[in-house]
Amino acid sequence: MTDAQESICYEKALEYWSEIPATVDGVLGGFGFISDVDIQGSRLFLQSILSTENRPSTNLALDCGAGIGRISKYLLIPHFSLVDVVEPDEKFINTIREYVGSNADKLGNLYKVSLQEFRPEKKYDLIWNQWVLGYLKDEDLLSYLTYCRDALSENGVIIVKENVTSSGKTEKDDADSSVTRPLKEYIKIFGKAKLKRIKQCKQTNFPNGIYPVYMFALIPNLISEADLNNDLKL
Ligand SMILES: C[S@@+](CC[C@H](N)C(=O)[O-])C[C@H]1O[C@@H](n2cnc3c(N)ncnc32)[C@H](O)[C@@H]1O
Repeated sequence: MTDAQESICYEKALEYWSEIPATVDGVLGGFGFISDVDIQGSRLFLQSILSTENRPSTNLALDCGAGIGRISKYLLIPHFSLVDVVEPDEKFINTIREYVGSNADKLGNLYKVSLQEFRPEKKYDLIWNQWVLGYLKDEDLLSYLTYCRDALSENGVIIVKENVTSSGKTEKDDADSSVTRPLKEYIKIFGKAKLKRIKQCKQTNFPNGIYPVYMFALIPNLISEADLNNDLKL
């Protein structure tokens, strides 16, 4: 069993978030001041994806582990006709429409469910996962990414934006029952989920002393990295 299997307790994580206020500072663990820089980095990354030759359509995006809808409001709604969200915390999900404000008519379905139980319909042009995958056990992360892969529309893209460790090891946080994985662990899981990285970028201008943050753009890869390695061995 890996660290992420042993140390994650889904009930404990939900209990932790149930105590956190529905504010930007709350969802960013006291780092609300990095939100603007974060959104700027994400906007550049998203715009580069939306200007590729095989770019996704901009009809429908999905914001996963959305919190109060910070990413929907500042990043996804300005680029997509409609945005669905997934968020298990009742207080957060009940805040989203009000927080998004005058553009709330661009919110579609709000799913109150945890990602390990969510089964997305096949209709999404873009699925954004940020600061949430550390709450999933490895096996659930793998099946979740596989469901996301199969839920993409033509030319659809999955985005993962997550902290990674510098130690090369998975580090756990008992306070919110999460883990932070090293870059190589994410790359391994993407390969197993038959996802290909088409772009990868480190977020810049974040304060010192926090985990490095990476953005990945992923598309279905019917030949996985693992299969390729096996083929090479034959
Ligand atoms: C650090 S906040 C990030 C919120 C949002 N992605 C953002 O960047 O503003 C983590 C969010 O993940 C949610 N969360 C925790 N465990 C989850 C799970 N198993 N499935 C889906 N969401 C989860 C929490 O309720 C919280 O809203």
